[in-house]
Amino acid sequence: MKKNDMLDTNQLTLSKQVFEQFKSLMFKESGVTLGEEKQAMVKARLAKRLRQLQLSSFEQYLQLVKSPDNRQEIQHLIDALTTNETSFFREAQHFEFLSRQLASFSVTVPIRIWSAACSTGEEAYSLAMTVAENRCHPDWQILASDINTQVLASAGLGMYDISRACSIPRRYLIKYCLKGVRSQAGQLLFSEPLKQHIRFVLLNLDGELPEIGRFHFIFLRNVLIYFNEIKRKQIINKMIGKLVPGGYLFIGHSESLRGMTDLLRPVQATIYQKC
Ligand SMILES: C[S@@+](CC[C@H](N)C(=O)[O-])C[C@H]1O[C@@H](n2cnc3c(N)ncnc32)[C@H](O)[C@@H]1O
Repeated sequence: MKKNDMLDTNQLTLSKQVFEQFKSLMFKESGVTLGEEKQAMVKARLAKRLRQLQLSSFEQYLQLVKSPDNRQEIQHLIDALTTNETSFFREAQHFEFLSRQLASFSVTVPIRIWSAACSTGEEAYSLAMTVAENRCHPDWQILASDINTQVLASAGLGMYDISRACSIPRRYLIKYCLKGVRSQAGQLLFSEPLKQHIRFVLLNLDGELPEIGRFHFIFLRNVLIYFNEIKRKQIINKMIGKLVPGGYLFIGHSESLRGMTDLLRPVQATIYQKC
């Protein structure tokens, strides 16, 4: 952060009352619950948007976001307040499990996988490399979705700072990635043949799901933590509806489905199979 930015942010005050209104808006629009401890985070993230719009108070920004004809700004709010931390092959045991399942997959079926909160795309590309390596059918698709338009735009590029590549096995780097040159030096780019299997779409897990078909594997990782108990249950039920019988659901290491449904049976820590 530049010195000037720091000064600006420090001069702004986010009152508890205005914070509560941002919280309710975020809940209404995305289902995400922002805890009381998130006030400093909200202030820091929205301050950037205030500077871009040259507004001088959070009250002004709240008015703008709430104006009925300004859906665009709601999207900016969602983009600013979602947390997008991710990495390649995060929770490696999930990709090992997937490889084993793919090895025993019927060759007549095109595999469909959903990365249901894909953030900047590392999860989707990790899935794509895993399927490409263990492919049992030439036709396979990955749907990668998120509620945040900025992370989706970046995911679609398939271009990452080389420093993020350390968790990608070397043989995959050689096979599926290109090294950026000139203006793209220091970047890795996923190859077109791999990218063409992935479709990135904007999708709110808290809304009615569009017609996206059913999947053999759904990765719903590190997103349930942002919802309350009721929303979590609703989202899990929607995921069950989108799994083929016998399909698998993966959640994050700090998440649990305990007591939530009888329609999924645990097969390994954080991996469930539709009964
Ligand atoms: C911490 S990231 C998880 C990324 C990846 N799944 C992983 O485990 O590395 C959480 C993602 O969930 C997305 N998200 C939050 N609320 C959402 C919603 N209502 N619908 C869809 N995605 C949502 C955020 O935008 C963010 O990119």
